[in-house]
Amino acid sequence: MSAALNMFGVHRVLAGDLHMEDVALSEIAGSFGTPTFVYSRAALTTAYQQLDNALKKTRNGKPHLICYAVKANSNLAVLSVFAKLGAGFDIVSGGELRRVLAAGGAPEKVVFSGLGKTRDEISFALLTGIKGFNVESESELRRISEIAVAINKIARISLRVNPDVDAKTHPYISTGLKNNKFGVAFDRAIGTYQLASSLPNIEIAGVDCHIGSQLSDASPLLEAMGRLVNLADKLESIGIPIQHICPGGGIGITYADEPNINIENYVAALEQALSSGGKTRDVELLLEPGRLLTGNAGVLLTKVEYVKPTDSKNFLVVDAAMNDLIRPSLYQAHHEIVMAAASKDAVSRIYDVVGPVCESADVLGRDRTLAAREGDLVAILSAGAYGFVMSSNYNTRPRAAEVMVDGANAQLVRARETIDELFRGEYLVNLC
Ligand code: LLP
Repeated sequence: MSAALNMFGVHRVLAGDLHMEDVALSEIAGSFGTPTFVYSRAALTTAYQQLDNALKKTRNGKPHLICYAVKANSNLAVLSVFAKLGAGFDIVSGGELRRVLAAGGAPEKVVFSGLGKTRDEISFALLTGIKGFNVESESELRRISEIAVAINKIARISLRVNPDVDAKTHPYISTGLKNNKFGVAFDRAIGTYQLASSLPNIEIAGVDCHIGSQLSDASPLLEAMGRLVNLADKLESIGIPIQHICPGGGIGITYADEPNINIENYVAALEQALSSGGKTRDVELLLEPGRLLTGNAGVLLTKVEYVKPTDSKNFLVVDAAMNDLIRPSLYQAHHEIVMAAASKDAVSRIYDVVGPVCESADVLGRDRTLAAREGDLVAILSAGAYGFVMSSNYNTRPRAAEVMVDGANAQLVRARETIDELFRGEYLVNLC
């Protein structure tokens, strides 16, 4: 069994049938069809609690807040699991804020990230009473101040600074280097904070950064944290005290055999950075994890439509495709692929597992050894983060259903789209 399969100990194999918690994936396919994303409530909870407990232990009474990065998986059921556990949320749009509220999340625990916040989004967030904005430019700062004045609210802000640290991850998900669009350049941070302190209805709350995603080594994160702590010290020395420090998200998960960051050690090292130089810094520690909390809590369940041998390769054509899970096509990301139910008499072969979309990039996994026949069920693992949320309707394919398992229960948490829904809102032109 691969590491991803038994991660958190909630997936089991009984008589060759893969189970999520106590429910066989074959049962889920029977009830809800395929392709379907299946999430484990126990795995979501375990991932959250592991991080929260580590923080409680190392912070030793000092405050912390886990702001789950909603973009990783924004299904309302997933958000409500975290809301019930007391999580905060990191959002990047007004739409995500609406989701958090609909799922019962507390607005006062919401931080609003992202470099293109619109006027409507800013005023909605201010009216909702969020914890604060992670600001990415001077123009945004001025805009937030202007809107806060107009609606008579105080906006709490952090600057998302760009610490110019190489996260050493895939270039598409690396965000902390000088030459990318995110954050305020480190050497302009002090000046921008001074500007912030001169603007009306702005309260400076924290310093923030996010250097990239799927990091398997903590050192770049800790290097960034060190720079944030230095910045906070400098700000304090010029009369701008900071209430919270946030090194962002980015903690990687195991998709195959990557090393991963030890959570307890990481949190302890963050705490150490906060007391570096023998100083006690009385700040709240915020984190913005996405993938860590959801990635290994979900699988994409799909059915083999065709077994297609050719002279050069064997293809397993499944009913999920790049429109359902774009990570392999977009980032050459690896997801383990396993049989979800035992296939009697099937011979093991090496396959490229592909979807039906008309693109050569529509490959979910290359050179996978599987014993599969047409009609069999296959599970694509570690699909709980950046899976459904990045899916599209390319090729007029309805987006997949989403199901959450809780013990022996499997509940539909998003219905499969219908074809009618796909062209609702489109119109024929009145041409003669
Ligand atoms: N905070 C900010 C400001 C972010 O931009 C992100 C992710 C996170 C937190 C959460 O990062 P995480 O803990 O999940 O690494 N679609 C890509 C990942 C893009 C990440 C974008 N930002 C993927 O599938 O690998």
